[in-house]
Amino acid sequence: MSEPLAGKTIVLGITGSIAAYKGAEVARRLMDLGADVHATLTRAGTESITPRTLRTLTGNPVTVDMFEDPGEWEVKHVSLAERAVAVVVAPASADAIAKLALGLADEFVYALALAATGPLVVAPAMNDKMLSHPATQENLERLRARGALIVEPEVGRLASGAVGKGRLADPEAIAAAVAELLAPGDLAGVRVLVTAGPTQEPLDAVRFLSNRSSGKMGYAMAAAAARRGAAVTVVAGPTAVPEPAGCKLVRVETARDMHRHALRRFPRCDVLIAAAAVADYTPARVREGKLKSGDESVTVTLRPTKDILADCGERKKEGQFLVGFAAETDDLLANARRKLAAKHLDLVVANDVSRPGVGFDSDRNAGYLLLADGREIALPEMAKSAFAERVLDAVVEARKGKGKRRRKRQTL
Ligand code: PMT
Repeated sequence: MSEPLAGKTIVLGITGSIAAYKGAEVARRLMDLGADVHATLTRAGTESITPRTLRTLTGNPVTVDMFEDPGEWEVKHVSLAERAVAVVVAPASADAIAKLALGLADEFVYALALAATGPLVVAPAMNDKMLSHPATQENLERLRARGALIVEPEVGRLASGAVGKGRLADPEAIAAAVAELLAPGDLAGVRVLVTAGPTQEPLDAVRFLSNRSSGKMGYAMAAAAARRGAAVTVVAGPTAVPEPAGCKLVRVETARDMHRHALRRFPRCDVLIAAAAVADYTPARVREGKLKSGDESVTVTLRPTKDILADCGERKKEGQFLVGFAAETDDLLANARRKLAAKHLDLVVANDVSRPGVGFDSDRNAGYLLLADGREIALPEMAKSAFAERVLDAVVEARKGKGKRRRKRQTL
């Protein structure tokens, strides 16, 4: 698996809400997660967005009128329904929700929703009074009872100018809800501890030593693990990137703090993923106040910090799985293998950080997964979200192998 929705066909139904134009943004966000999006518009939906916009965006044909060629439609709605892993209706008007609840099939998207076997996701968008009307609420309840996922609308300014509940949920949140719904759940019940970002080592009252880590890789690992069902705690150095959804976040500043917080939580985790770029050295003393400017050179003595991952490796108990990242500028594989052995890791992600466009402070990564059993998996350049999924695929598979070997030993 690459991106969470890679290789997955999703039907996006855009209905006659004022927010129909936001359907394009929902399509884009689903595509960002790797989905193959097939959009369909109701006739009312075409009042706000054209089929051509959606066709250009998704690269797939867009169906509007199911009666334009009944022969073809007959085939299309069934074949698409078979391929679709989910039907997402966003925005869903009050009329659309009523039709879905009743099982009417007078437009392509409703007919397809009836023929589809995958889950239905409904993101309502309408006037607040229409949303709170008992008829709409009963229809939503009926859909929920049938297993549909309702992505709740937000409170905000509505098309009428009034402020109330009824604004389409953030398209990114809709896509994330779809990804979560379809996630394999193969880390359910697993406790994952992630270190992420840089650390900052103070020199004086206003200056510090740090590095170019943004926290994006660690956060992508944490978000992906949470999506797959894990209980995730992230110990993160100072970063400005958005927090990973569904994770417990512990913010720290220095390598010393990160060591303390990570080591305290390590005994209760099943998988440790050390993606942080921890300072290897810290100033031996922090000067009081701000160091004054002057002509004389200044010497700063640095002393080594404690290695969080190595210390966890030494304390590792049977059943715990350790993933390290090796940021290398030369002899990538040899150096990464050395770290794998020295820190008692099960898997190391070898990152060539001399390569432009990947690694530190980029949205993309590339590298190799080196496993303790000697296997080597090359990962081409891809988005960090996709990279994280590939690392987790390897973790899930290797843990299964380890578990089997452990059970075999116990029965011998
Ligand atoms: O944060 P981003 O901008 O997204 O960038 C991602 C990244 C390049 C920082 C990330 O992919 C990465 O490679 N992280 C590891 C960086 C690093 O410090 O590598 P290292 O080879 O120096 O350390 C090896 C391993 O030991 C790492 O897992 C590191 O977290 C861990 N370590 C190192 C030193 C230390 N004192 N404690 C540690 O736990």
